[in-house]
Amino acid sequence: MWASLLCVLALVMLSQACTPSVTTVSGTHAPVTVCSGAMIFADDFEEFDLEKWQHENTLAGGGNWEFQYYNNNRTNSFTHSGLLFIRPSLTSDQFGQAFLSSGLLNIEGGAPADRCTNPRWYGCERTGTPMNILNPIKSARIRTVNSFSFRYGRVEVRAKMPAGDWLWPAIWLLPAYNSYGTWPASGEIDLVESRGNRNMFQNGVHIGTQEAGSTLHFGPYSDLNGWERAHWLRRNSAGYDTDFHRYQLEWTPDFIKFSIDDVELGRVTPGNGGFWELGGFNDKNVENPWRYGSKMAPFDQKFYIIINLAVGGTNGFFPDGVTNPSPKPWWNGSPTASTDFWNGQAGWLPTWNLNVNDGQDASLQVDYVRVWAL
Ligand SMILES: *[C@@H]1O[C@H](CO)[C@@H](O)[C@H](O)[C@H]1NC(C)=O
Repeated sequence: MWASLLCVLALVMLSQACTPSVTTVSGTHAPVTVCSGAMIFADDFEEFDLEKWQHENTLAGGGNWEFQYYNNNRTNSFTHSGLLFIRPSLTSDQFGQAFLSSGLLNIEGGAPADRCTNPRWYGCERTGTPMNILNPIKSARIRTVNSFSFRYGRVEVRAKMPAGDWLWPAIWLLPAYNSYGTWPASGEIDLVESRGNRNMFQNGVHIGTQEAGSTLHFGPYSDLNGWERAHWLRRNSAGYDTDFHRYQLEWTPDFIKFSIDDVELGRVTPGNGGFWELGGFNDKNVENPWRYGSKMAPFDQKFYIIINLAVGGTNGFFPDGVTNPSPKPWWNGSPTASTDFWNGQAGWLPTWNLNVNDGQDASLQVDYVRVWAL
């Protein structure tokens, strides 16, 4: 009897033993020890934990002249019934319509939590003009930049994409320390992006809510980015806005793999030439910033998680010349893009259904975020 008891005890201890993992972590909410296979970060959004999620506060437009003003405001980001909602609203609801074309918006705050988080691209202060109105949409972008970053692991995010013309939801990761230099030299991992248009076609292909994509960005400088060699799309005729799906990343020292609902979307397995060879940068006469990194460089350093809902922008994510029930109201080359977008409001605002069901259609909804060590 003692023997079997000891045996059970030994088994219990064995099952609790910590096998070291190749995964590394940092941040205020990172575990002290990382055991292989263990969950190392999770949020079920039973409450909105701003110790985990820092809000961006900026007019910067993501470097793409996107039309939103990211702020920390429970109109635009909140948890309810165990879900995170990121919901767009009109900037004019707060400041009035005239302010958009004449007001001075300075969003720098004095409290630590109110600081402007991105001064680039006139991100902390803008003056509206009739040609170039102030960011007409308010939304949110939250990130684990202080609470949790990790290198290698498995990620699963269960989420429902928003519906509404020109909405651009994204769940993605950026490097914590830019170990190889500024974007895109240190990489970017886009777990999922989609477009909120319910009936948008390009060359006969539905590129709105029926399409979801995953992408890696990597390259020595912004005009030399190998993303097209690490970009995958999946289509779903029901639309990614009608149900929750599980968006998954498997990131190891050998490969990066994206899946949706356990079905692989795509993967990269770099050879010894790493992402430099994969990007086809050999003949470009630039120095390889990753030459002393591993073959996974720049994806061999810690990244943090970002969840946001953007709108529009001029970088071509919403291509000119698409077919949409109400035509795209701005050209990507337009110097008055935000004004053009705002003037096209009669086309897009009704598609957001902001007055129905607390604006849930146009909200990016997240059930949970989970990260495991390898
Ligand atoms: C939050 O957003 C709402 C809606 O735009 C606005 O009315 C309110 O003034 C905002 N709160 C703060 C503190 O900025």
